[in-house]
Parts: sequence; C-alpha cells; structure tokens
Amino acid sequence: MSHELYERALAVSGRAYAPYSEYLVGAAVLTNDGKIFEGVNVENAAYPLGVCAEKAALVKAVSEGYRPGDIAAIAITASPCGGCRQWLYEFRIGEVTFLNSAGVLATYSAAELLPDTWDLPS
Ligand code: THU
Repeated sequence: MSHELYERALAVSGRAYAPYSEYLVGAAVLTNDGKIFEGVNVENAAYPLGVCAEKAALVKAVSEGYRPGDIAAIAITASPCGGCRQWLYEFRIGEVTFLNSAGVLATYSAAELLPDTWDLPS
C-alpha cells in the first residue's frame, strides 16, 4: 500500500504551486476507513507563508472530519521538514513513507521521526 500511496503523492506533486523554490512536493493521506486526501505545497510571495504538501493534505482530511488516530498512513515526495514532523506526530500516523536521501522508499512511524517529542502537559 505504501508504494501505491507514494505513486498518488508523486502524481499530485505536478499540481504544486511552487513558483519561488520550483520544488514541487506532493502528499497523499490514507484514512483508516480507506479514503485518500492529496495535498501539494502552496508557496506565497511572502515566503514564510507557504504551506507544505503534507500539511495541505492533512488539512483536507481534518476538514472532512478526520482526527488524530483516524489516519493510517501518509506518503510524501520529500523527506518531511521538522515542522511537518510535529504535525504528523499530532495525528499519530503509523506509517510515514517518503523517498529518503539514499533514494529508497522508507517508512517510519511519526513518533520515530520525532524522538523524545514535546507534548502539551496534561
Ligand atoms: N516542502 C514541503 O512541501 N514539504 C516538506 O516537508 C519539505 C518542504 C516544500 C515547502 C516549499 O514550498 C518547498 O518545499 C521548498 O522548501
């Protein structure tokens, strides 16, 4: 499944809006009940306002009612940035797949990608 999800991420990456970096990123989220939400990075002339692809995909899922624990997997065409790792952690995603620096599809849990993570004290 992770390979198919990655293919979806790759296909949608062509719709990224990245005129400044020209670095097109796609992401595809798989929910526990089998729905897929895709996202792309969306940049802005005010550079820090840009949104990463995995955040865009997660926002779509959340706006359709999905919550932490409802998302099984995500595939991203780039290694997730530090801020996005915190987002992936928030949604407790069990399988995060991306092409690693060796050019190999790698899968980790969100917790593995952000060890010893900060949590809001309860
Ligand atoms: N980018 C993502 O969409 N996801 C990541 O995790 C890495 C970075 C985007 C943000 C920006 O539009 C472009 O890649 C270059 O940093």
